[in-house]
Amino acid sequence: MTQLRRLLPDPAPLTPAEAVEGLAFGQRAPADRPYVAVNFVESVDGRAAFEGRSGALGDDVDRQLFHGLRGRVDAVLVGTGTLRAERYGRLVRDPDRRAAREAAGLRPDPLAVVVSRSLDLPPDIPLFQDPDSTIVVYTSSDAEPPECPADVRLVRLDPAETTMTTALRRLRADHGVRSLLCEGGPTVFGALVHERLVDELFVTLSPKLAGGMDPLTILQGPRLPDPEELELRWVLEAGGSLFLRYGVPLG
Ligand SMILES: NC(=O)c1ccc[n+]([C@@H]2O[C@H](COP(=O)([O-])OP(=O)(O)OC[C@H]3O[C@@H](n4cnc5c(N)ncnc54)[C@H](OP(=O)(O)O)[C@@H]3O)[C@@H](O)[C@H]2O)c1
Repeated sequence: MTQLRRLLPDPAPLTPAEAVEGLAFGQRAPADRPYVAVNFVESVDGRAAFEGRSGALGDDVDRQLFHGLRGRVDAVLVGTGTLRAERYGRLVRDPDRRAAREAAGLRPDPLAVVVSRSLDLPPDIPLFQDPDSTIVVYTSSDAEPPECPADVRLVRLDPAETTMTTALRRLRADHGVRSLLCEGGPTVFGALVHERLVDELFVTLSPKLAGGMDPLTILQGPRLPDPEELELRWVLEAGGSLFLRYGVPLG
């Protein structure tokens, strides 16, 4: 059994499952949108990808926590760049994890959520090819959605209203989504931060250097007016990786 060391708040050993089991994001949802947690992995030199993907930056414990967080939410928001680069598939493939979600009062599979102005989606990726997946797509495009086995629910929005704020309000009102995990990418995270929609940030600081001349960091987009102060909520460690949880008092 993989053990993490909790260094903060109170030092203790725990498993990845124990680390996430008390997370009740939905109970903390504001009235008009879901509670929003964001999860990223980055190298010590601040890179969010290596050769265009994040997989080489993480390790097994990071992946367990990544899936553990998926187990705690109603829906998962992912950018089109990330869907394409990481070739997303069904969000919860493991039947035991689906059963655990049901036992926690959630649907077996979280909704997948995409916001896209262009509707330039990657229908060939496993997620769109999976008949058990439901994908809610908010778009201002007039284009037709891709024909694919997944249940794609297109919601057309006015171009001026095609924002993360509108999408999150509609998710809450139309689908009852109280907890949302954003898995990136950095452009979508930037949009959420600028619209002040992030409640928590989970960051794995991986004990690796990535280098390279293309400095993709976890947050892309315009510079913030001032550096935002985050509130450190926990520090976990395993195998030299630090798993950090921050409150984001942007609301
Ligand atoms: N280290 C990590 O944990 C991690 C996590 C995720 C991703 N990544 C990496 O990040 C890279 C992909 O990230 P990315 O930043 O290029 O793409 P992204 O954030 O995944 O997706 C960006 C797309 O989101 C859509 N979008 C919708 N509303 C938006 C808004 N209000 N503002 C901006 N974009 C909006 C746009 O699609 P339309 O053009 O269709 O409008 C935009 O092109 C990959 O290399 C991936 O491996 C790393």
